[in-house]
Amino acid sequence: MAAPLLSLRGVGKNYGAVIAVRDVDLDVYPGEVLAICGDNGAGKSSLIKVISGAQAPSAGSITLRGAETRFRSPHDALAQGVATIYQDLALAPRLSIAANVFMGAELTRGPRWLRMLDKPRMAREARAYLARLSVAIDDMRRPVEGLSGGQRQAVAISRALRWDASIIIMDEPTAALGVKETAQVLDLIRHLKSEGRTVLLISHNMADVAALATRVAIMKSGAKVIDMPADGLGPDDIGHMIMTGRAA
Ligand SMILES: Nc1ncnc2c1ncn2[C@@H]1O[C@H](COP(=O)(O)OP(=O)(O)OP(=O)(O)O)[C@@H](O)[C@H]1O
Ligand SMILES: [Mg+2]
Repeated sequence: MAAPLLSLRGVGKNYGAVIAVRDVDLDVYPGEVLAICGDNGAGKSSLIKVISGAQAPSAGSITLRGAETRFRSPHDALAQGVATIYQDLALAPRLSIAANVFMGAELTRGPRWLRMLDKPRMAREARAYLARLSVAIDDMRRPVEGLSGGQRQAVAISRALRWDASIIIMDEPTAALGVKETAQVLDLIRHLKSEGRTVLLISHNMADVAALATRVAIMKSGAKVIDMPADGLGPDDIGHMIMTGRAA
């Protein structure tokens, strides 16, 4: 088996007296779609916040590509190749699609003393990233607030692609979406998978998990209680495992 891309050892996260995550060991291998499931309050988002740099762990260590690391902020994690996409996170609704895709890493042109934004090139490349995700939008100057939920997810994913993120974390990517948009986001995830990117997917939708995941980790009261290949698991099996904390 290949070496893990990302490893957690003994990771814990407390909020004051609340233990949100306790002693989690997790290995994430290149190219897998790892679903993290569990009841409300099980600690999924808290675990993801540690991996995405949004929160410092209270205990434990993180190893990325074989070297121990720390993520000081979501931007720091992004720069190390770990991108996180929340429902609306990090998109600036009033800014254009192109500005959102290149936020924090704008393309410029001209000599150093006359540096200016290279808007035509950013528009061109933003369109190309979206096209890679099979999303066709003509005008890259459109503000993100006018896009559908699925299109917005595609913009957020394009931003991750711009940073060439190897790990893309999605926390409930379809929770607020309609049927058609949900299908579109599932296609985006399939696309990332086909590009060999690693996806961490948090979802309460067992049908989505059964359809996409290559591995399932289940959390209960902050601990990881199950970690197994998803082959052959149906939505009901996963639901059952979440309820009982035991493998089906
Ligand atoms: N900022 C915070 N301050 C205090 N407690 C928190 C904070 N964030 C989360 N918690 C607590 O930590 C525990 C785990 O919460 P977390 O949001 O990680 O669960 P989750 O598995 O993502 O749940 P859900 O499925 O509802 O999103 C819960 O008991 C929650 O109340
Ligand atoms: Mg959550």
